[in-house]
Amino acid sequence: MMNNNSNKLDPQQLVAEFKDIPPMPNVMVKALSVIKNPTTGIAELAKIMQVDQAISTKTLSLVNSAFYGFRQQITSINKALVVLGMMKAKNIIMSLALKQMMTAQGSRELWEHSIKCAVAAELLAKEYKVINPDDAFVIGFLHDIGKILLNSKNPLKYSKVRYLAAQGNVDLVEVEDAQFGTNHCILGALISKKWQLPVILTNCIRYHHDPAQSSLPTVCGIVYCADRLVQANIQSPILNPKIMSKMEFSISDPVALRETILAKATIFLKEMAMPG
Ligand SMILES: [Fe+2]
Ligand SMILES: [Fe+2]
Repeated sequence: MMNNNSNKLDPQQLVAEFKDIPPMPNVMVKALSVIKNPTTGIAELAKIMQVDQAISTKTLSLVNSAFYGFRQQITSINKALVVLGMMKAKNIIMSLALKQMMTAQGSRELWEHSIKCAVAAELLAKEYKVINPDDAFVIGFLHDIGKILLNSKNPLKYSKVRYLAAQGNVDLVEVEDAQFGTNHCILGALISKKWQLPVILTNCIRYHHDPAQSSLPTVCGIVYCADRLVQANIQSPILNPKIMSKMEFSISDPVALRETILAKATIFLKEMAMPG
């Protein structure tokens, strides 16, 4: 498909067209604010969990799962928060706080894909030490957040776009550009700015399909790789050699890595899906 840039909305048109950017869910606002204060943070996070039964139940089952591999049985939220640390606890809260928004405006698939990408980004960050793994989880989780705006704008049209891209011969971002005059990367960056998320996040969301364009190509490359590795169908090649040549790390066996990541992500998703 031709990349028709003349169709593209300029920044002002964009803001006018997609003015209904949803506010950040309240629980996430709270979780983000408390981590800024390490002395009271843990107690505040515990409060959030006490109020939200679903979040506390799922956090406890996740913390006792093979995902973290802690040896002892953890039965209280306070203990769970201590062993997890604030950053990981915040990430679990975020995963659940956005679940409803993502499922409503993007399908369950989007939420599951976001979790898989978060798990992948965390693992890659640990391995290649490019960025803090807990931050990588957040970026991986939010990378496709722009899709919720395209979907809420025109669900029918967006499901067609997704169908076309899933057929495999066309690039999702190009189809979005052609159909909507913009794409989920640009819109995701818009949401990230509106939510006042760190600049590094906005940058990675903006360039996750084309990390070489980013001012932080290697950090952005972690999200690019994470996203590619967890696609439902194996792409060929999984990682574009031209893009990978710009990175400060290389992945020798992407198929094996994909298996490891998907196995981990499956545990996370299973615990998050528990009733409660
Ligand atoms: Fe994407
Ligand atoms: Fe993605």
